[in-house]
Amino acid sequence: MTTSPQVALVAQRLAFTYASGAGLKRADLVLAPGETAAVEGPSGSGKSTLLALLGLILTPAAGSLCIGGTDTGALAPSERDLLRRREIGIVLQDLGLLTFLNAWENVAAAFGPRLGRHRSNARDLLGDLGMAELADRPVAELSGGQRQRVAVARAAVKQPVLVLADEPTSGLDPKNADLVMGSLRSCAAQGAAVLLVTHDRGVAETCGRRYALDGGVLSAASMENARSVSTRKEGPA
Ligand SMILES: Nc1ncnc2c1ncn2[C@@H]1O[C@H](COP(=O)(O)OP(=O)(O)O)[C@@H](O)[C@H]1O
Ligand SMILES: [Mg+2]
Repeated sequence: MTTSPQVALVAQRLAFTYASGAGLKRADLVLAPGETAAVEGPSGSGKSTLLALLGLILTPAAGSLCIGGTDTGALAPSERDLLRRREIGIVLQDLGLLTFLNAWENVAAAFGPRLGRHRSNARDLLGDLGMAELADRPVAELSGGQRQRVAVARAAVKQPVLVLADEPTSGLDPKNADLVMGSLRSCAAQGAAVLLVTHDRGVAETCGRRYALDGGVLSAASMENARSVSTRKEGPA
């Protein structure tokens, strides 16, 4: 399949099944550069699985996925790894920051082990995200919201085509959630397509597109079903 490079992501009938039988049944999704999209859904509905598929961490059992005009189904494993490293920034649910490094070193680590080469780039980006004063602080000494912004900076520093974030505001107070969303929006302003999964309807409402994931099936969220999905009494995934 060929897609225009003006499209950041095209997923068609994407599906994945774990050995348990659970997983993602069907996702169709198109994102343009600069767009923000939210996927809402209860725990266990397949949100993290969807992000892992879009982030080329899991390989789909069915369907097609194009990122930045590249059909990922046609790639060898080493080419998939390269595409992931170059074009996709991922903010995982547990962040995966290196606690023995400071904030800018964690951001620079996106490029590999030679941190010093990317020092000014990493520090500039942290500055853009309101973290200039904290760039030299070990991440172990940062608050939850500050760590989230370091993880967003690490995902964004290579100016990827696609930024994926798994519940980036969960556990944050409204002020820190706003700061984290502001940093994701600035990725979009620089041309990335940003997709986040969230339990927070207020967060989803700030995104340009909204989708609902229920029972492994992704659909465009109408206001009615978005409301019912987000008011379900489920804890964070
Ligand atoms: N590694 C795994 N092995 C087997 N089943 C899994 C695995 N990861 C997730 N699942 C199952 O797949 C479904 C979707 O999970 P997940 O994508 O983590 O949902 P969410 O992020 O929406 O909470 C759930 O039923 C979950 O139990
Ligand atoms: Mg999850």
